Amino acid sequence: MSTLFLYPLRIGNVRLDNNLALAPLAGTSNLAFRPICRRFGAGLTVTELVSARGVCHDPDFHRNWRYLVFDPAERPIAIQLFGSDPKDFSHAIRRILEHPLLGRCSMIDLNMGCPVNKIVKAGEGAALMRTPDLAAWIIEASVKTAGAFNKPVTVKLRKGWDDDHVNAVYLARRAESAGAAALTIHGRTRSQFYGGQADWSIIGEVKAAVNIPVYGNGDINSPSAARRMIRETGVDGLMIGRAARGNPWIFSWLTNALGAEDPKADAAPGLTPDDKIPVILEHLDSLIDLRGESTAVREMRKQLIFYLSGTPRGAEIKRRAMAAGSRSEILAVLEDWRIKCEKHCEHS
Ligand SMILES: Cc1cc2nc3c(=O)[nH]c(=O)nc-3n(C[C@H](O)[C@H](O)[C@H](O)COP(=O)(O)O)c2cc1C
Repeated sequence: MSTLFLYPLRIGNVRLDNNLALAPLAGTSNLAFRPICRRFGAGLTVTELVSARGVCHDPDFHRNWRYLVFDPAERPIAIQLFGSDPKDFSHAIRRILEHPLLGRCSMIDLNMGCPVNKIVKAGEGAALMRTPDLAAWIIEASVKTAGAFNKPVTVKLRKGWDDDHVNAVYLARRAESAGAAALTIHGRTRSQFYGGQADWSIIGEVKAAVNIPVYGNGDINSPSAARRMIRETGVDGLMIGRAARGNPWIFSWLTNALGAEDPKADAAPGLTPDDKIPVILEHLDSLIDLRGESTAVREMRKQLIFYLSGTPRGAEIKRRAMAAGSRSEILAVLEDWRIKCEKHCEHS
């Protein structure tokens, strides 16, 4: 393994095989998808965001199980919580870590970056960047509770609230003082949501300001972008979000290319439907195990749009994928996709 761009990391007492992570992605980073990314090379994965208060009021974890559940074999994994009350975080973390399965998670991640209106109106997610004292209390309370179980706490931040309130460096220092074991910095402000380009310079500023591992996040979608992120910012880890949707192979592409001396390894892997379909079906079947066929198929339709993106003249296939109502209908769409791609290859 090249030591320049791909290397093991340590977060608190947790050793990670490498410095690549699958970002928390609501609607995507669940038990059906994370293990696939892990197998393709993600050194760490993170659950979808889960409400700390919701966990406090969910005596048997019934309502939140689908967000929290993981397979011990997919570790290292972080469970991500959001909220605005330090007491909720303490209570939720204690309940999670006392649970026989959930307590085997590797670490707890605190969401301080979610831009969604409903969340920030409640003072949660990215709104915590506007209340740094409260953010620090939440981190302290979480670190104290998780620490009693020997679990590290990490924090995911944005650049700031908006261009007039860029305070990631200040908050990162507060997070480190409050006991955070690692940070992720998404180089956009809350006002930007997911638009525009991520500002990587702020990520470099945070990295220079703290002594704990920092993951850079925002717009990493290729080996060249990954290398550029490390060169420009000096970050320890790379967290990949949207580029992994419908594309868990991004992790094998990155591990192969970043670990190789040969620049040819940067070439995109050129996957065919024959490579992709078994993985898509594995994803679908895991979703069916989790949610039952009808919900799983509805959820999978959104993922299929990502899996099918880049298909030459793929609008018709995508339209049919969006209308599929059962596993067998998805199977039929994928088979037609395979045939269509074969024909396209013959003619091009
Ligand atoms: C659909 C979607 C869902 C997301 N869900 C979460 C989440 O649950 N928790 C979180 O911290 N960030 C969440 N994010 C933000 C990503 O983790 C990541 O910070 C962001 O997409 C930027 O990285 P990227 O350019 O690699 O996608 C979400 C982003 C998207 C697009």
